Amino acid sequence: MSRGREQCTYSRGSSGSNSPGNSDSSDSEVVLRGGIANEGEVVRLGDTVRRPQRSWSPATHALLRHLEDVGFDGAPRFLGIDEQDREVLSYLPGTPVVAPYPDWALTDEALVSVAELLRAYHDAVSTFDPGLHDWAPAPPREFVGNVLCHNDLNLDNVIFRDGRAAALIDFDLAGPGSATWDVACAARLWAPLRSDVDIVDARRGHGLGRLRLFVDSYGLDEVDRARVVEGARLNYLWFCTLIRESAARGHAAFARYWRSVSGARVDRTVRWFDDNATELHAALRA
Ligand SMILES: Nc1ncnc2c1ncn2[C@@H]1O[C@H](COP(=O)(O)OP(=O)(O)O)[C@@H](O)[C@H]1O
Ligand SMILES: [Mg+2]
Repeated sequence: MSRGREQCTYSRGSSGSNSPGNSDSSDSEVVLRGGIANEGEVVRLGDTVRRPQRSWSPATHALLRHLEDVGFDGAPRFLGIDEQDREVLSYLPGTPVVAPYPDWALTDEALVSVAELLRAYHDAVSTFDPGLHDWAPAPPREFVGNVLCHNDLNLDNVIFRDGRAAALIDFDLAGPGSATWDVACAARLWAPLRSDVDIVDARRGHGLGRLRLFVDSYGLDEVDRARVVEGARLNYLWFCTLIRESAARGHAAFARYWRSVSGARVDRTVRWFDDNATELHAALRA
């Protein structure tokens, strides 16, 4: 495998040894929908995905190279930079979970597979040294430990195959954190952890049970389990701040999204965490 891939200019047809091949011979770009941060700017071109870079993308690319080096196939391969200065990643076959969420993605089996994939990712990244890189904005200090977190395990950042979570995508927010923080983030989004008023799908009424199932399936140890509830609450606030501040700095897609999230819903969610702290902790106790 070639080191320095990130310096190379990648153009159509320059598939290296890590390219998944050219089974799709399409020469036109197709916009991939799902996320918010890069809405309309993530495209598929043949067997590759092209995405805008961020100032800390070199760190993300080092992470993806590490995952490739240790043989973790639950993440895209980093293939280089194209002539438009976009990152070039391998296109992962399968089905992304994009809204409106299909029922198969909301089952307990699907939830368990996401937790197991997150655990496999943490195991794969445990030998990666994040030291020399600049990373995305860090989590609260008390949740920064020795795990290089994905940090954004929303439903639309998981690719499924045969009903199981097979790969994580969108490592833009990856950075130093802890298992508790990544589990809390993922459980918050997948359980989900918020008022039932704001759950419009089959997960309504099942949030606490799914929280427990996620944490058990990941295999979080006793000490870390006790911190998941606080982690989820702070994770919600962390995301709100990140989106609000990006919107204020002129990020158009985040501004649109933030306008669509009512202040009442944010208040309701924060209150929900406070009002249900006892139930949340109880759900995680044996
Ligand atoms: N490597 C990939 N392989 C397959 N599909 C991808 C890949 N990267 C992104 N996608 C698709 O594009 C959508 C948006 O990509 P993403 O990078 O998550 O954008 P955003 O940064 O806006 O969240 C995803 O939900 C998924 O459907
Ligand atoms: Mg995304």
